[in-house]
Amino acid sequence: MYRGITNVSIEIPLITYWNTGRFSGRGAQWVRALLVVGLLACRARPVATPPAPAPDIVMVAARPPRPAGCLTDAAAAGQQQARLPAATMSYRGAEWLTRPERIAEEDPERLIAALHLRPGMVVADIGAGVGYHTWRMAPLVAPNGRIVATDIQPQMLADLERNVRARGLANVSTALSGDGETGLPSDAIDLALMVDVYHELSQPARFLADLRRALRPQGRLALVEFRAEDPKVPIRPEHRMTAAQATAEMAAAGFCLVGRDDTLPWQHLLVFEPLRH
Ligand SMILES: C[S@@+](CC[C@H](N)C(=O)[O-])C[C@H]1O[C@@H](n2cnc3c(N)ncnc32)[C@H](O)[C@@H]1O
Repeated sequence: MYRGITNVSIEIPLITYWNTGRFSGRGAQWVRALLVVGLLACRARPVATPPAPAPDIVMVAARPPRPAGCLTDAAAAGQQQARLPAATMSYRGAEWLTRPERIAEEDPERLIAALHLRPGMVVADIGAGVGYHTWRMAPLVAPNGRIVATDIQPQMLADLERNVRARGLANVSTALSGDGETGLPSDAIDLALMVDVYHELSQPARFLADLRRALRPQGRLALVEFRAEDPKVPIRPEHRMTAAQATAEMAAAGFCLVGRDDTLPWQHLLVFEPLRH
């Protein structure tokens, strides 16, 4: 800083004097040459500049405000809610839920591992069907934790109860849900899992508002849907969703994306948290 000021204070009077035209002759040429060399030497000295702002300060200022911890999906912002819900999968076709190929197509063990369940957690398996994920999760939250398995079809819940009994699992309860009601108690759920269910909800906004009520303060929703953006997934279009579509619908319902796993064979795993105002 100081050096910058010194350069300016020497240069201005010299240049002014030179411009008066009083220098002439051979001696003057030498003086001019010395002056040029002197000026160049002054300019060549490093001049201190103010320190650049730390990069993260610049980024914070430039970044659009969003809730801490929310991830964004680049395409989600442009999504319209033009999706029609799929028909409810009937209990009459329930054997499809336990088809042997499902292991290779959906890798349920990998999905459950990605949820990081711990003993003591209360997990809602929403739209649990015959309990394909319920019976895998129940031992992981035992002995003090439990699974609340819900479905809109009582016949599915009856099958689920049989399956759970057959496996000797004591920490599973069931609840009948409605189109817009989860059937869950308030402030009770640490994690809600929805596998291949959300796209069937006839009143998703109402259902999600009710789910907020049921989640504990740190509660989360793990949403698993067949990937609509992947042409290799051989599932009918109305039973698939893009991550952008799901993220946009969740954002409209006040949930923000906090985690994502795209390593399942055919599905997205998207983890959401309700925004706290
Ligand atoms: C494709 S199955 C998936 C079942 C189970 N999640 C699984 O992965 O094996 C969809 C399930 O969602 C249930 N369902 C649809 N709408 C629901 C709602 N509003 N509340 C709870 N369950 C619902 C259906 O009855 C059906 O059992």
